Amino acid sequence: MRIIKQKTVQFLASTVALLFFISGGCADDRVINMEEFGTMDDGRPVQLFTLKNENRMEVSITNYGGIVTSIKVPDKNGNIDDVVLGFDNLEQYKAGHPYFGTITGRYANRIANGRFELNGEVYQLATNDGENHLHGGIEGFDKKLWDYEINNSENSVILRYLSPDGEEGYPGNLNVKVTYTLTEENELRIDYHATTDKPTVVNLTNHSYFNLSGEPTQVILDHLLTIHADRYTPVNEALIPTGELRHVEGTPFDFRTPEYIGTRIDSIPPGYDHNFVLNNPNQGVRNIATLKHEESGRVMEVYTDLPGVQLYTGNFLDGTIEDRNGHPIPQYAALCLETQLFPDSPNQPHFPPAVLNEGEAYETVTIYRFHTEQ
Ligand code: BGC
Repeated sequence: MRIIKQKTVQFLASTVALLFFISGGCADDRVINMEEFGTMDDGRPVQLFTLKNENRMEVSITNYGGIVTSIKVPDKNGNIDDVVLGFDNLEQYKAGHPYFGTITGRYANRIANGRFELNGEVYQLATNDGENHLHGGIEGFDKKLWDYEINNSENSVILRYLSPDGEEGYPGNLNVKVTYTLTEENELRIDYHATTDKPTVVNLTNHSYFNLSGEPTQVILDHLLTIHADRYTPVNEALIPTGELRHVEGTPFDFRTPEYIGTRIDSIPPGYDHNFVLNNPNQGVRNIATLKHEESGRVMEVYTDLPGVQLYTGNFLDGTIEDRNGHPIPQYAALCLETQLFPDSPNQPHFPPAVLNEGEAYETVTIYRFHTEQ
């Protein structure tokens, strides 16, 4: 009798321990770390969140600008490196940088002359790129402090920002929600959601600069890129689309089969800074691009439901900014694959529309998925 009792107690104890281990063990690994990253000039605290998964992938995000500061993934030998440009302190971000890892908006990319017409009314936006409007203006979403919420069970950080009517010249109060999730499939998933109380234009993206070697002083000309796009949008000298959707056949923009970034970059100085018209725009979330670095074996696949992607090869990086190890960041140190609506859509009636009306929801998703190949 006593023996049975003891065994029952032992059994119960080990079951409880096991359950504790299963739930507590997993939950512990998945708990999102939050630490103070600094303060805004008005004293508001800024946070840094670090998400981890079971495959030793780690992503850090700050609610200042919704910036992805770091993505750490293993190479083919299991060595972990950071594959994005970023800083380890807020001050460097506040000092100014070309949108490293930021959420860009309200309208990512360019709007010609910072002007557009909507329902018979002309809106003049802030101009911050010569005569044009770039990435939301002088103080875009990349410089805002976002409200945050942590969802440990989903391994997500949810960021919210209310962009007031008239901000940088845009009409309508825009309620924006961006959810960053790190999955067990080594995906950084970004869900964008926005609503407005007045017709406006919206185009949100993440502006991460990738270098899969993990070493920003080693340029990305040796990265192999595939983009599933039969066409691209040629631009004028100010990088505003001419309106043409040109076939990539026979041009340096043909990435329909894997090509090294460096092979044809010299023929389009100072480098790639172009929007690609992605195939199958009505298919929902699909693989639109794949980036591979043979030496490290790292591969990044990009998925989105959006119609365009900007390939920007860091042409204007010139060594004046230092990376997190204190080394100057050279031209071509990293590349961006910014999923988006086409640049200047508000002025190009035949481009997919960027208008958001009250009662509608802007909803898109982009996934950066990592793996290695031998
Ligand atoms: C633009 C580039 C710009 C860079 C940094 C990219 O999205 O296309 O022209 O220099 O962002 O601002």
